[in-house]
Amino acid sequence: MALPALFDRLRLPVIGSPLFIISCPELVIAQCKAGIVGSFPALNARPQSQLDEWLHQITEELAAWDRDHPDSPAAPYAVNQIVHRSNPRLEEDVATCAKWKVPIVITSLGARPELNDAVHGWGGITLHDVIDDRFAHKAVEKGADGLILVAAGAGGHAGRLSPFALVQEVRAWFDGPIALSGAIATGGAILAAQAMGADLAYIGSPFIATEEANAVQAYKQAIVDGRAEDIVYSNLFTGVHGNYLRTSIVNAGLDPDHLPESDPSAMNFGGAKAWKDIWGSGQGIGAVHAIEPAAARIDRLRAEYAAARARLAL
Ligand SMILES: Cc1cc2nc3c(=O)[nH]c(=O)nc-3n(C[C@H](O)[C@H](O)[C@H](O)COP(=O)(O)O)c2cc1C
Repeated sequence: MALPALFDRLRLPVIGSPLFIISCPELVIAQCKAGIVGSFPALNARPQSQLDEWLHQITEELAAWDRDHPDSPAAPYAVNQIVHRSNPRLEEDVATCAKWKVPIVITSLGARPELNDAVHGWGGITLHDVIDDRFAHKAVEKGADGLILVAAGAGGHAGRLSPFALVQEVRAWFDGPIALSGAIATGGAILAAQAMGADLAYIGSPFIATEEANAVQAYKQAIVDGRAEDIVYSNLFTGVHGNYLRTSIVNAGLDPDHLPESDPSAMNFGGAKAWKDIWGSGQGIGAVHAIEPAAARIDRLRAEYAAARARLAL
């Protein structure tokens, strides 16, 4: 199936994924102007009334860009909604998204038909993130338009399946849009995701080390300095397994090699404290060598993607 028309504006088949605390309007706008989908979790706008201000700013700046750059219009943006009972703001945040007719809504940690219906009502599409084929079926049954497959090695709450296995199983029955995530950090890896059967790469951690990202300098530098072996997979911090930078766990006074298992009743996805002190990151950061503007990172990915295509004579 062809991708929905709103993806025609992409100049690289990439979604800059939502990052708790880190994704802010400056990063989203830079990503969209550079031709990839930019996104942010609604919960990053605090208090709730700030979501309206952010959507106003993003809408206006992207419209101004489109007027000035008719040959390279901005890519659409996305808002991430945490569809979990620990999120008391969901209803209000969806109403604010309806006001601004948010083009893409990314849903995580729960699929709800009424949310998909609401987004369709204002002309948007939904992408739901899943870590296995069973959850993929559930999401599509409940009306998601597309899927984000979160494979092993992804930053934040990550799956444990190989991307090869995950895409192969889901593509066997689903012909809608698929974005693949998990340690994708080069143009060649974006092309590999497409070769496997995904339509888009879903990239998070490399955008932490950008000038626009809302992260402290030490976190950005840790992404530049880090490699795959520096990533620890644990469910201690939010109740769900995720990938984190070893250095931040050590700095918090914990032993990354002997972390206790979490108590599932203590699940807390919006726990800003955990994400502030314990730094999420995927395994792909060995490809990140500098803190730079998001546009520079995207230009490099685009050049690598073109080179990979040329190498394979595509
Ligand atoms: C610090 C951090 C925060 C994240 N916060 C969210 C979030 O709020 N909502 C969400 O759906 N995914 C979140 N993610 C997951 C990303 O959207 C995405 O799945 C992941 O970054 C992709 O893997 P990569 O980092 O290896 O590129 C987060 C990831 C990181 C590293």
